[in-house]
Amino acid sequence: MQIFDSNRPPQDLIHDPRQIIIRQPDDWHVHLRDGAILTSVVPFTARQFARAIVMPNLDPPIISRTMAKAYRDRIVAAIPKDLEFTPLMTCFLTDVSDGEEIAQGFSEGIFAACKLYPSGATTNSNRGVTNIKNIYKVLDKMQTIGMPLLIHGEVVDKDVDVFDREAVFIDRILKKLVKDFPNLKIVLEHITTINSVEFVESSSDNVAATITPHHLTINRNAMFDGGIKPHYYCLPLAKREVHRLALRKAATSGSHKFFLGTDSAPHSVSSKESSCGCAGIFNAPCAMETYVQVFEEEGRLEALETFSSINGAKFYGLPLNIKSITLRKIDTLIPGNIKIDNQYYIPFNAGETINWSVV
Ligand code: NCD
Ligand code: ZN
Repeated sequence: MQIFDSNRPPQDLIHDPRQIIIRQPDDWHVHLRDGAILTSVVPFTARQFARAIVMPNLDPPIISRTMAKAYRDRIVAAIPKDLEFTPLMTCFLTDVSDGEEIAQGFSEGIFAACKLYPSGATTNSNRGVTNIKNIYKVLDKMQTIGMPLLIHGEVVDKDVDVFDREAVFIDRILKKLVKDFPNLKIVLEHITTINSVEFVESSSDNVAATITPHHLTINRNAMFDGGIKPHYYCLPLAKREVHRLALRKAATSGSHKFFLGTDSAPHSVSSKESSCGCAGIFNAPCAMETYVQVFEEEGRLEALETFSSINGAKFYGLPLNIKSITLRKIDTLIPGNIKIDNQYYIPFNAGETINWSVV
């Protein structure tokens, strides 16, 4: 059994190939939802992560300090008594967001960041931003106070192919945004393309990206493999294999610009398996297990801790976690479904066996 020592470099933690101990990771992008489902999904995240950046796309979205505080209280009430977990709240940006309210929330420790959803880009984003110019004043304020902007980087223009939405967002919106706000801390969330990898790598240190377990392990074929597979449908969509390989290289590279964000986004079976199914993959039941498997397959286990437990905290200017978690090479069966409040939820890779487990 290895003893965790927070001063020891991560590569020293890898002695026993059947077990690794790393500083406890954080999830820098998660959807915890609300109501009965919130109570049921929080433990999946809290069993592995010390902190999580909680997305504000509820209906109605979290747009004020009061709403964020109340939502945080509901999340805290759902944390199992034997686990320590800190939710970090975000503010949903709209065309009429108030920079003063946001700055106040940031200074009071209520908001950790703001989330930009282009209006109509994804689940509950209708009140999102219709034109980036509408939030320029808010972005200016955020740049001044060092508050991170988290971006769902997809355009919604009808002339753009859905698989190109992310790459076009970089060209049409992001390049100019980064020029106009050179010191704004930006996280390009759940990146899916080589274009995003290259953009982030070539940008200054205040631009980073999160990468999900599903975009590291599936390409777009998964959605159409033998028939339509709604449980692999999420936004941004998984892309071609060349993009998946670029994401794996970036995540396991050891670069400080890429960090863990699961984008775990549960929707009930009835809302996924529908003539107009919801986007979102519920990966919290197997998130760390999937990441560690990817790093092992890439022969880069020594870079796992940097990606999962160090880069994000440093980017947000938060202390590193002191506690550790143990990942053991034991086969784990991912549940076929999870019943919550009389509805079923299907986790990512339901019914499959993964060869790691969080102890
Ligand atoms: C997310 C959701 O369901 O809230 N869905 C998804 O496909 N990732 C929203 C989002 O992050 O786009
Ligand atoms: Zn998301």
